[in-house]
Amino acid sequence: MKILHITPEIAPWSKAGGLGDATSALAKNLAALGHEVRVATPLYGSVPGREQMGTVLDSLKVDVGGDPAKAACRVRSVDLAPTAQVWFIEHDDYYGAREIYPAREDTAERAAFFGRAALDACLQLGWIPDVIHCHDWTTGLIPVLLNTTLKSSPLGGCATVLSIHNLQHQGLLSRRILPFLRLPEWLFKPEELECLGGVNFLKGGILHANRIITVSATYAQEILTPAFGFGLQDVVLRRQAHLDGILNGVDLDEWDAQKDKHLAKNFSAQDLAGKRACKVDLQKQFKLADDSQAPLVGVISRLWDQKGLDLAVQALPKFLRTGRLQFVLLGSGDSWLEQEFRRLADNFPGRVGIRIGYDQALSHRIEAGCDFFLMPSRFEPCGLNQMYSMAYGTLPIVRATGGLADTVRHWNSTTQQGTGIVFQHADVGAVEWAIEQALALYARPEDFISAQKQAMREEFSWRKSAQAHVACYEKALQQR
Ligand code: ADP
Ligand code: GLC
Repeated sequence: MKILHITPEIAPWSKAGGLGDATSALAKNLAALGHEVRVATPLYGSVPGREQMGTVLDSLKVDVGGDPAKAACRVRSVDLAPTAQVWFIEHDDYYGAREIYPAREDTAERAAFFGRAALDACLQLGWIPDVIHCHDWTTGLIPVLLNTTLKSSPLGGCATVLSIHNLQHQGLLSRRILPFLRLPEWLFKPEELECLGGVNFLKGGILHANRIITVSATYAQEILTPAFGFGLQDVVLRRQAHLDGILNGVDLDEWDAQKDKHLAKNFSAQDLAGKRACKVDLQKQFKLADDSQAPLVGVISRLWDQKGLDLAVQALPKFLRTGRLQFVLLGSGDSWLEQEFRRLADNFPGRVGIRIGYDQALSHRIEAGCDFFLMPSRFEPCGLNQMYSMAYGTLPIVRATGGLADTVRHWNSTTQQGTGIVFQHADVGAVEWAIEQALALYARPEDFISAQKQAMREEFSWRKSAQAHVACYEKALQQR
């Protein structure tokens, strides 16, 4: 198949969260299955290596309204795999700044432009995909365009798929995006794109894509309910028959404890000695006491309401006061939460280490050096860190939601089966309960090591995920 992905993030060039990891690994694995893949994405000011990039189209006129002087771009390229190429849409006015999601007056045009540019690049090159796979809200109007304005163009026969990586972010923006994308005004009604007086990008994608994917089976069920639907549950319900839950995976080029270059020492399920060295290294880095009795609990996260870390910051003091655990966090986001975590470090010197910021190398060392990894998410479409943790023998402590529920098995001391600690409710008491369970497991070294080995043997394969995507593309092609 010829497959075009349209995405605002692709690792390692641009990544605000797991979306970048997911699009990159999916494209590589689809290529490994023999498909021809192109990934269109903006060339942000922060993307490294633009000097070495190739040029696919030196000047591409994009069919958008607004200022004609802003309607052209260049398409640069990098090979991701022998049959997968990333197309970077270069347009300095829209994407020259470093941020991926800045707050700007032209947010709608900026979101819409690169997708429309990708379609025009296909038309100009005569490269007509079988499937166009859009990711998250910025790309939501692409399936709408293909069903309306571009219906009778050579792209009108492409099957369209929309992946919802996170339903909370929908792109509720000005209706002036309709003339900008040359979309018909009749779309501005509640049964179509209209929402609270604006145009809802994601709603458009949900209604118009041939198929919709969310990144875990449980999240595919959750988004049908008011608690997780963020107001779009009825729209998703209308498309329920065309909705699939397909889990992300672990990219072994990036996350392999036996080869990871960021670690003080490599290790494997057969030989965990190196993991102890990684813990000592992490304790040193964060100036924590050299305590081998207490488990080290880690977090790497955006500090955002979704992640439930306000619950963690309230639950932790009880355990820190009695010296029963150590804690490290790497993340940034909400300034109140950043401050609360800094205060935790001030209150418990030698037991808590906090790094506010984004640091890829440190994220690998935390995954490797901790005993447990905490994710008390209120919702979690898939979640990647719990899978990275398991691959590194670090037991996840997770709330039973979305992909967390689908990937972590609660430790059962009777059957001696399990890969982590799973709790049900998004409240402080439940987080405390879960930490108690983790401490009890850590206090039984044989059980703890058994759980670690089971976690490391779990297979979260991108190959399997890519195969499930291909099956979904086939359904989309039949439906078209
Ligand atoms: P989300 O996409 O909702 O943020 P995921 O678990 O899917 O959650 O993915 C988050 C990704 O971002 C992981 O690869 C994680 O390691 C990475 N990440 C998040 N915060 C940081 C940070 N401060 N430094 C380094 N990596 C981070
Ligand atoms: C989103 C979700 C996260 C998921 C990631 C990749 O950012 O919040 O749960 O793992 O996308 O699909």
